Amino acid sequence: MSLATDPLWYKNAIFYELHIRAFADSNGDGKGDLLGIIPKLDYLKELGVDCIWLLPMFPSPLKDDGYDIADYYNIHPDYGTVEDFKKLVDEAHARGLRVITDLVLNHTSDQHAWFIESRKSKDNPYRDYYVWSDTDQKYQETRIIFLDTEPSNWTYDETTGQYYWHRFYASQPDLNYDNPVVADTMIEVLKYWMDMGIDGFRADAVPYLFEREGTNCENLPETHAYLKRVRAVLDADYPGTILLGEANQWPWDLRPYFGGNPDDPEMPGDEFHMAFHFPVMPRIYKALKLGDASDIIQIMADTPAIPSNSQWCVFLRNHDELTLEMVTEEDRQLLWQLYAPDPRMRLNLGIRRRLAPLLDNNRAKIELANSILFTLPGAPIIYYGDEIGMGDNIWLFDRNGVRTPMQWTSEPGAGFSAAAPETFYAPLIDDETYGYQKINVAAQMADPASLFHTLKHMVAVRKANPVLGEGSYQFLRTGNKAILANLRQSDQAAILAIHNLSGQNQTAVLDLSDFAGRIPRDLLGRLATSLPEISTVPYSVSVKPLDYFWLKLK
Ligand code: GLC
Repeated sequence: MSLATDPLWYKNAIFYELHIRAFADSNGDGKGDLLGIIPKLDYLKELGVDCIWLLPMFPSPLKDDGYDIADYYNIHPDYGTVEDFKKLVDEAHARGLRVITDLVLNHTSDQHAWFIESRKSKDNPYRDYYVWSDTDQKYQETRIIFLDTEPSNWTYDETTGQYYWHRFYASQPDLNYDNPVVADTMIEVLKYWMDMGIDGFRADAVPYLFEREGTNCENLPETHAYLKRVRAVLDADYPGTILLGEANQWPWDLRPYFGGNPDDPEMPGDEFHMAFHFPVMPRIYKALKLGDASDIIQIMADTPAIPSNSQWCVFLRNHDELTLEMVTEEDRQLLWQLYAPDPRMRLNLGIRRRLAPLLDNNRAKIELANSILFTLPGAPIIYYGDEIGMGDNIWLFDRNGVRTPMQWTSEPGAGFSAAAPETFYAPLIDDETYGYQKINVAAQMADPASLFHTLKHMVAVRKANPVLGEGSYQFLRTGNKAILANLRQSDQAAILAIHNLSGQNQTAVLDLSDFAGRIPRDLLGRLATSLPEISTVPYSVSVKPLDYFWLKLK
């Protein structure tokens, strides 16, 4: 289908999260840039990607790797120019690839001209662009997100003797959405980039736009009202484009971000088209370690239905720490013990590691995790480099250890840049297991048995079976907690995905009587022998350690 004609394209899309700095360097300065991405688009196309999400690309002092924006109307000089950006979008579209960018509404950099003005005096015209207070005692019920570095959400500013509010680093003052000029101006920012033909936004840190005393200042009705206004602009002026919301919240708090009416799933959503399902992610890791599917099943049971024009976005890893905010304190401790034995691996309430190292570089586990992801309700997102099993460097500052240069080849510089590797923005991964000499795109593309090819196949099979994007989901009873069996169904099709989370042979006993008379077809081509016909008696399937398969039942 052409880019213009399918308004619900995102429901069955494969997303790819791409850090511009880390991907490919076109001008030999040791930093990735926009023009560097263009020759790599065919690679993403080959993997089966439908939509690229670009991390923030704006001028920034980079105190939070670009999430601290100093100018919303420009491109960071390291990354190129607005013309380069337009060229990238055109080249992507020419290949049928969509592009969304980060939209950071909540805060700016303290180097933004608005804040430089705002902090000058109490009567500066920009004063009310930010949230100022005589005391640091307001909004005490609000949690601190960057716990390892920020003692408070307030920072004292000497010039005027007042405090300013910030949910992230002190160098990221929160914008004041009670000021209608701010609210309107950010809509102008959105239009500026939409007018360049992009396909939407990943909207950053959306729960925190407004502050109200006596609340935790998250998910407030005022915030939802503003986001609905943003959505209305897209619907009116840019049909077919999307808003993907980053709200790290529990499922019942996530539901309102889709809008519509929670009591009436038939009513279309009028807020975000998509939202990341944060809570299911750490539960996949817990399930894999304990060989127990229960928590995945429970959190999906706790997940309210969403409007039919909406979609979850599911992920295993991203550019941040693997957040453990959406688990109990007990599980947080457990997951830290299991996945971050070295204290250096921990950051804030999470774990700063990549997928492959988290899963002991165990190919079977990496595939299994991806198979779970690809069969959950939602559109999957792949974090750059995870498709080849890249490693991390926990010794780099903040979350930079999961943002190292993409490993394209085994040559010096890893095909990332022609500059001298010691001048790269970050060191290449260079160890025995994950070094670019061994883990790189060229080697994996040449090897039909590589992780890249396995994932490419999974992507292709998923896309050939739209029921995996659009169908209902139901976790079947298996009589065995080590087995996760997810039935995805529509009027036309039914696929049962079976996962053995344990390191032992397991048997699932399933009630498939609705499909009596049918012979399951192995979609991924992984079964050595074919399965017998389904009847009305319990259907028993044996599954090898860490094995998975997708069975077409209809
Ligand atoms: C989001 C981003 C994260 C950033 C934060 C503040 O959580 O994913 O990288 O630090 O917002 O903008």
